Amino acid sequence: MDSIIVKGGGELRGEIPIAGAKNACLTLMPATLLSDEPLTLTNAPRLSDIATMTALLRSLGAEVSSLQDGQVLVMSSHNLNNHTADYDIVRKMRASILVLGPMLARDGHAVVSLPGGCAIGARPVDLHLRGLEALGADLELRDGYVHAKAPGGLKGGTVDFPLVSVGATENVLMAATLAKGTTTINNAAREPEIVDLARCLRRMGAQIEGEGTSTITIQGVEKLHGATHPVVTDRIELGTYMLAPAFCGGEVTCLGGRIDLVGAFCEKLDEAGISVTETPRGLTVARKNGRIKAVNVTTEPFPGFPTDLQAQMMALLCTAEGTSVLEEKIFENRFMHAPELIRMGADIEVHGGTAKVKGVERLKGAPVMATDLRASVSLILAGMAAEGETMVSRVYHLDRGYERVEEKLGACGARIERVRG
Ligand code: UD1
Repeated sequence: MDSIIVKGGGELRGEIPIAGAKNACLTLMPATLLSDEPLTLTNAPRLSDIATMTALLRSLGAEVSSLQDGQVLVMSSHNLNNHTADYDIVRKMRASILVLGPMLARDGHAVVSLPGGCAIGARPVDLHLRGLEALGADLELRDGYVHAKAPGGLKGGTVDFPLVSVGATENVLMAATLAKGTTTINNAAREPEIVDLARCLRRMGAQIEGEGTSTITIQGVEKLHGATHPVVTDRIELGTYMLAPAFCGGEVTCLGGRIDLVGAFCEKLDEAGISVTETPRGLTVARKNGRIKAVNVTTEPFPGFPTDLQAQMMALLCTAEGTSVLEEKIFENRFMHAPELIRMGADIEVHGGTAKVKGVERLKGAPVMATDLRASVSLILAGMAAEGETMVSRVYHLDRGYERVEEKLGACGARIERVRG
């Protein structure tokens, strides 16, 4: 298993290109199952999660070609010959459940294993299933698989989500494009990845209104056609690299970044003493004078502070002046990075979904272990500002969500290297 070794100290200066969004790409790829004409995605990120989704689509009979070093994906589902998403692939990645809605909508049947993914909480899929049932799907859970049928096709309906779910909104949105009649999704997720999915589906001929708000209305159509769609910028990769100069000092421009993707996050950066300037090329970030200030952070669905940036923000606040309180409202078990940061000298107390972080002067390098995707990168950032050397092991989590992290940070002056193992 690979490890990453980071040596602390030194300012960062330079530009970091931000890739297309992993989470958008993982929902845009299954959209190919809705049509028998090709769907081409440009600006795709090069990540192991994308390779997993590629393998899953291929296992169903879809053709997926990766061009231009993986940045263009051409997919075609004209010959779907298998409607079972097998446990062996699905267990690697929770987003695999997103093939359920499209397959069911197009062919009236699908069998999908219950998913795995990051160990950051129970993460059930009941809302996905409830949403599809509201469109007339007949579902049965048997032997760890969801067996779904809609013999006469799905029918438009009203879906009232009791809580905001990104994945469930995506699954129902895709399924509803081919359902007969009108579907209304209430309490829909408003994430930029949902907006991107709706735009892509519209390019494929879907009739959708209201994406980016809490109510999405879909008028089902007979058929969807082929399209080409650029994947939206990854706001989580963006936020992560925006933090790099906040940890180390200096100035970094995140190419392709936009404030509207990271509004709530930028407000917290400003409070902490980090300046962000938007230019036509991206977002330029620098630490204002002096030490980072403590801030309180509560994670929320978009447009609130994203849970996927909580670990990185906590790592930053470990050396802030004062005490910060972080409240995790989306996933119940998402402070697994805290014990690792404590190994580096951080002063953190976790009680349920709340973490109290008392700022210390400086962290010290230590061997640490990546426990999930965002936790891994938070340890790398912490290591870049710590005294001495930090070795982050189990970085396979990192490769699920960050492409070429050593190259991107190394180009700005970070002393970071991968040790193959
Ligand atoms: C997506 C993102 C993930 C991000 C999360 C929240 C992808 C591939 N992943 O995950 O990076 O952290 O949004 O922004 O896009 N829930 C249920 N029942 C369900 C579905 C969800 O109870 O059927 C709960 C979850 O346990 C969680 C909350 O709802 O507590 C939000 O989860 P959800 O928005 O669905 O996250 P994902 O789509 O899995």
